[in-house]
Amino acid sequence: MVIRIRQLIEWKQEKRPIVALTAWDYPIAQLLDRAGVDLILVGDSLGMVALGYKNTLPVTLEDMLHHTQAVVRGVKRALVVSDLPFLSYQESPQQAMHSAGRVLKETGAQAVKLEGGYPAMAETVAQLVKVGIPVMGHVGLTPQSVYQLSGNRQQGNSPESAERIFADAIALEQAGAFAIILEHIPAKLAAQITQKLAIPTIGIGAGPDCDGQVLITADLLGLSERLPPFAKSYVNLQEAIERAVQDYSREVRERLFPEAE
Ligand code: KIV
Repeated sequence: MVIRIRQLIEWKQEKRPIVALTAWDYPIAQLLDRAGVDLILVGDSLGMVALGYKNTLPVTLEDMLHHTQAVVRGVKRALVVSDLPFLSYQESPQQAMHSAGRVLKETGAQAVKLEGGYPAMAETVAQLVKVGIPVMGHVGLTPQSVYQLSGNRQQGNSPESAERIFADAIALEQAGAFAIILEHIPAKLAAQITQKLAIPTIGIGAGPDCDGQVLITADLLGLSERLPPFAKSYVNLQEAIERAVQDYSREVRERLFPEAE
């Protein structure tokens, strides 16, 4: 079954958790899709996991188009969503339409994701949805505001901050977003938002009561240099890869590989 947006809403109603992960290239996308992941996000976290940047700010629309094209080639079943990178959509709804339009036209991804809420992003989401571009929202810790937020700290701790995140989520739903990422906020706040909204919430560092969960796949695979406090590694591929490369190097140096035959 190919996953469509409607399916995510049905899963929320059925309380069937949505499984999401990030991908940045063809082999990773193929592996995630074969393993049965429901939603594959080409996140601008590819700036850190694939391009060696310190944060997501340097990632360009061209980077996102290039990597999303590779991911889409590897996916047969999952819904593919592509991030709009920093300053490819914040200037105006027209700029957002141009960037999101390029993502849909040139990559084959079915939807875009953008960060932020009321009022500017709610208006932008409404404009995109009006022309038929599906949008996923993203509130709480929004990594493109890393400097404004003074780092990647938890959001929604004070009553004012929690209220603002709650209002942002409602504004995004009213604007027509089909789902919302809740990043690094208290579990209780995420549960309240999830209960209030008719569209699915996908949590990352937002507790167990969201309608789905997403992780950065490099974190899950043990490929990241630093793990966020809420992430979990299920395997240590860094160690496995280093060991394989050391074994190969030793065998080449000792003339054990390739064998004469
Ligand atoms: O860029 C990304 O990978 C993301 C996830 C943290 C949800 O936005």
